[in-house]
Amino acid sequence: MNKRRILVTSALPYANGSIHLGHLVEYIQTDIWVRFQKMRGHTVYYVCADDTHGTPVMLRAEKEGITPEALIARVQKEHLSDFNGFHIRFDHYHSTHSPETRSFSEAIYHKLKQIDLISIRAIEQLYDPVKNMFLPDRFVKGECPKCNAKDQYGDSCEACGAAYAPTELKNPYSAVSGAKPIQKSSEHYFFKLSDPRCVDFLRRWTRESDHLQPEAANKMLEWLGNIGENKLSDWDISRDAPYFGFEIPEAPGKYFYVWLDAPIGYMGSFKYLCEQKQINFDEFWQKDSRTELYHFIGKDILYFHALFWPAMLENSGYRTPTKIFAHGFLTINGEKMSKSRGTFITAESYLKQDLNPEWLRYYYAAKLNGTMEDIDLNLEDFIARVNSDLIGKFINIASRCAGFITKRFDGKLVGGTQYQQLRTIIDEHFATWRPAQIEHAFEERDYAAAIRQIMKFVDAANEMIHQLAPWEMAKKPDQDDALHRACSLGIQLFYLLSHYMKPIIPSTVEKIESFLNCKPLTWPTLSAERSVSALLLPEGHMINPYQHLMIRIDAKQIDALIAANKQSLSVGDKPGNIGQSEQTKKTSQAFVPIAETISIDDFSKIDLRVARIADAEHVPGAEKLLKLTLDLGHEQRTVFAGIKSAYDPQHLKGRLTVVVANLAPRQMKFGLSEGMVLAAGGNHPGELFILSPDSGAQPGMRIK
Ligand code: MSP
Ligand code: ZN
Repeated sequence: MNKRRILVTSALPYANGSIHLGHLVEYIQTDIWVRFQKMRGHTVYYVCADDTHGTPVMLRAEKEGITPEALIARVQKEHLSDFNGFHIRFDHYHSTHSPETRSFSEAIYHKLKQIDLISIRAIEQLYDPVKNMFLPDRFVKGECPKCNAKDQYGDSCEACGAAYAPTELKNPYSAVSGAKPIQKSSEHYFFKLSDPRCVDFLRRWTRESDHLQPEAANKMLEWLGNIGENKLSDWDISRDAPYFGFEIPEAPGKYFYVWLDAPIGYMGSFKYLCEQKQINFDEFWQKDSRTELYHFIGKDILYFHALFWPAMLENSGYRTPTKIFAHGFLTINGEKMSKSRGTFITAESYLKQDLNPEWLRYYYAAKLNGTMEDIDLNLEDFIARVNSDLIGKFINIASRCAGFITKRFDGKLVGGTQYQQLRTIIDEHFATWRPAQIEHAFEERDYAAAIRQIMKFVDAANEMIHQLAPWEMAKKPDQDDALHRACSLGIQLFYLLSHYMKPIIPSTVEKIESFLNCKPLTWPTLSAERSVSALLLPEGHMINPYQHLMIRIDAKQIDALIAANKQSLSVGDKPGNIGQSEQTKKTSQAFVPIAETISIDDFSKIDLRVARIADAEHVPGAEKLLKLTLDLGHEQRTVFAGIKSAYDPQHLKGRLTVVVANLAPRQMKFGLSEGMVLAAGGNHPGELFILSPDSGAQPGMRIK
């Protein structure tokens, strides 16, 4: 056999979020393909990594009071345990925050600079004057310039769908500090994507061999525009400090934009694996490499993988991808995953509810057809398909036949002439059956077609067993041979079918291997002169007693899963009661007696929340009050607090504190106050101490 050498990647998940069922479409799709290729004996390396850089990771770490390094280390562990739980088997899982990725990023940048594909020019951007940082589009909010909807992001409006620049927002504010952004100019570094060396190459690359699916190639033509027309603009690859990422060489205070080093993370991860396993890195990445390179991605990141990435590789002296495989997006019950409906389901919650990960692998496989179409997880259909097809049809073959083999024939399948008869029956019955079609469907990532083929065979097997009715034979004393043959037939067919199921449900098939007492199943190859029966277990083969291979889904489990994902909504997600503030009272006595005893119920009426002081300012005309803008995680409140004597507003910004969130709002002279900030007070006017939660607490958390 011609042994292929293949490097496969899945997109690198962001290190600022959990893996959810949407992500799993991709990792399951890739893992099935990799397992299939490995079963066929090809040399395949499957690498991935966490995508760690960027503003969101930086800010989240800050919010949690930890370093970005600590945050990404924790998230990587979580991601790995999720992937492991779903049997996604990477050959290596790295981090983009690694020496390998840094060194490739610098080398590629140097090369592009050397050949004049990097330009520098100043651009104007929104800047947070309080946080002292430039704001990515997603961190600017304000009113939509088209429909005036409030609290819209800087790039697009969720109310009317309009897309715009953050500078067009009305009454913009920084989502980080609440401050009004200003425009500020700064020098940025650009990759000259509009250069003919990129444009001409991309045109050629899109046209020649099928690097892209037809839908993706069409998108590319749209982005590239007609010949002569240059629609591509240069790509901004730098960000200003503060930023979590790699500093650009000889450009202090400038960092590589996260999307520059993210795909380079594929190389970084593979490089690490090469060092560990003595694999020749260059063989896979040099220009004109004869190895194959495949990137599995979601359709939302096609732009990065089909434009920037090949253009960067081509011009810095590396090979370009063999193919880019884009898939569609997951919907659940026909709708976008939604936190409030409980369908924003994390991988972790699925596993925690004790749902079998292979149910989902099977269901996704049955839906994935290798195109960019979205795929729907219909929960009722999920239960029905898994129970009736995977278990009711496939697993059922074994559970119907195994008991007799163990009880009546000491675990031994037929041998001798019985075995020859059985081979003949199978060859006649499955003469027109073509495993090559299954193989082809897997290769093309059309797992839906593969499963249709396999299930046809499963149906035929069940039909044969049904006709033979071993359970009837078992009741009659003189039909031992027929019973033995019928059950052996069932087990042999089950064995055969298990091969094709292995990439999809690898863990169950491992159990099957030990039940059938056979070697790990590899991909069965049928040359023209071999018949199906050549693939069977040998005559007189001994099997082990049947153990449950897979149980059915109970609809209650799905209800529990949805409920769990509704509950896991952070408390701040639900619209809180509008509270109020008043001036914090200062005690003037040396000792104030402890107040009257209350019950826990009395106490729990007070809804105390962690809040971040997004903004603090003097109130013109007020003697004691400061005006605080509090971020409660999912809402912002204005609170007037009588702490002017003790605090300079500048020092309050960004601090976490505690607020009574359900106090009735109070109209004050200077405006409506919507809560009360907690502070300890002493005997003198300046003796005031705002409470702070320990580091790690987040805005919106309830204090109990
Ligand atoms: N970090 C980038 C990828 C960098 S690759 C050099 C990223 N991360 S992500 O966490 O947002 O997404 C990881 C992958 O999961 C992407 O390919 C994305 O398309 C896919 N999916 C994320 N949500 C998805 C669905 N709801 N449905 C299907 N795939 C989804 O993008
Ligand atoms: Zn709008």
